[in-house]
Amino acid sequence: MSERLQAPRGTSDVLPADWPARRVVEETARRILEAAGYRRIETPVFEATELFARGVGESTDIVQKEMYTFEDMGGRSVTLRPEGTAPVCRAYLEHGMQTLAQPVKLWYLSSFFRQEKPQAGRYRQFWQIGAEAIGSDDPAVDAELVLLLHTILAEVGVRGVRLRLGSLGSPEGRLVYRGLLQDHLRAHEAELSGEVRARIDLNPLRAFDSDHPGTQRVMQSAPRLLDHLSPDDAEHFAAVRAMLDAAGVPYEVDPSLVRGMDYYTRTVFETTSDALGAQSGVGGGGRYDGLIEMLGGPPTPGNGWAAGIERILLAAEGLPAPVPVVDLFVASAKDDGREGAFALATEARRAGLAVQQELAGRSLKGQLKQADRLGARYVAILGDEGISLKDMESGEQEVVGSSSAAVARALKGRHPG
Ligand code: HAM
Repeated sequence: MSERLQAPRGTSDVLPADWPARRVVEETARRILEAAGYRRIETPVFEATELFARGVGESTDIVQKEMYTFEDMGGRSVTLRPEGTAPVCRAYLEHGMQTLAQPVKLWYLSSFFRQEKPQAGRYRQFWQIGAEAIGSDDPAVDAELVLLLHTILAEVGVRGVRLRLGSLGSPEGRLVYRGLLQDHLRAHEAELSGEVRARIDLNPLRAFDSDHPGTQRVMQSAPRLLDHLSPDDAEHFAAVRAMLDAAGVPYEVDPSLVRGMDYYTRTVFETTSDALGAQSGVGGGGRYDGLIEMLGGPPTPGNGWAAGIERILLAAEGLPAPVPVVDLFVASAKDDGREGAFALATEARRAGLAVQQELAGRSLKGQLKQADRLGARYVAILGDEGISLKDMESGEQEVVGSSSAAVARALKGRHPG
C-alpha cells in the first residue's frame, strides 16, 4: 500500500461540520460591510513578488522570511499573497478606480499564505475578512473602519475584545522621531537583541515589537512617537478619537503599537481577544497614505483592516450551528421504481423543496432509517399502489396519489400558507 498523504503542515481542511459557524461569520461581515457601501473584490492568489517587496516592505518579517515565492515557467518570480492590502491597491490602480467617487470602499474574504511556525491560531494558509477604503484622508474614514471591525466582532460574539489605537504620523514627521529613537537605541545597543541591533538603521520602530526582555526594558524608556507627532498628524489622530468617542467605541491609546508592514502611516489599530492564547490578534489595520505611490500610482491615501476568520472562530462563543433542513426524502418500495423516484425528487426540487433521495441502493427499511438520520420532515414512498407520504414526526402515512403534483398538493395541505 502507498503511504497515506496528509495536508501540508500549518494548513487545515474546512470540513462540512465547520461551515455553519463559519458561514455565520462570513455572512455577518458581508451584511455589515455591504450595508456601509463596501463592495466585494477578489484578487489573484499569486502576484508578482515585487508587489509585496515594494508594498509590504523589504525589511519586514513577511517579506524576509514568510513568503511562498517561486519562479513560474516563464522565469518570473511570483508569490502566494501573504496579505490583501497591496493586491487591492494594485487592482485599484490597474482598473482606474481613481476616476470613481472617492473613497472607493472594497472588502474581501480570501485566503492568504505565510510561512510562519504553525501553532494554535497561526497557520500557513488562513482566511481573512478585510476592508479597504482608498482615496480619502478624512479622519472619518479611519473612524468608520474601526467602527465596522468593532461591530462585526461584537455581532459574531468574539469574547474579551480589546481595541488598541495609535498613530505613526506621516513619513516626513516620522523622520525626526526616527532619529531620536535611533539615538536611544544606539545608547543602549549592548542590551538589545541581535535582530533589533541589525535593524537600527533600516527599521528602528520594529524594536517596539520585540519579545526580547533586554530590548523590552530599553523600549520602556524610549521616546514615544505619539509625543512627537506633527501638528497635522496630531490633529488627525484627535479627530479620529473624537469620532470613536462619539460613537461609543471603547479603545485604548497604545503609544507603542507597531504593525508588521511598512506601509502604515498615521492611524493604526489592532484588536485582540482575551479568549486566545499567544496569537491573540484578531484583526488589525491602519492608514497607508504612501502605498499607492510606492506601487507607481499618484499620491492616494488609503486605510483598511483585516481580521482572521480562524481566530474569530476560536474567540467567538455561541455561534449557532443550524441543522440542515430536509423537507422531503424520496424512497422507493419497488425494485423498478428508481426513475419514478428520481423524477419525483427532481420536480419537488424545482418546486423549491429541500429534497434528498436514496443514493446507495438501500432496502425500504434502510431508506426510512436514512431519512430519519437526515432529519427529513416527510418521506415520499413510491409503491405499487401509488405514492404515500409519511409524516416523520407523527409517524402517520397515507397514499396521496400517483403523481408529483399530488404529493405537492398533499404537502401544501399540511403546511397551509
Ligand atoms: P495582519 O495583522 O498581518 O494585517 O493580519 C490581520 C489578521 O489576520 C490578524 O489579526 C490575524 O487575525 C490574521 N492572521 C495573520 N496571520 C495569520 C496566520 N498566520 N494564521 C492565522 N491568522 C492570521 C494584514 O494582513 C493587513 N493586510 C491588514 C490591513 C488591511 N491593513 C490595512 N488594510
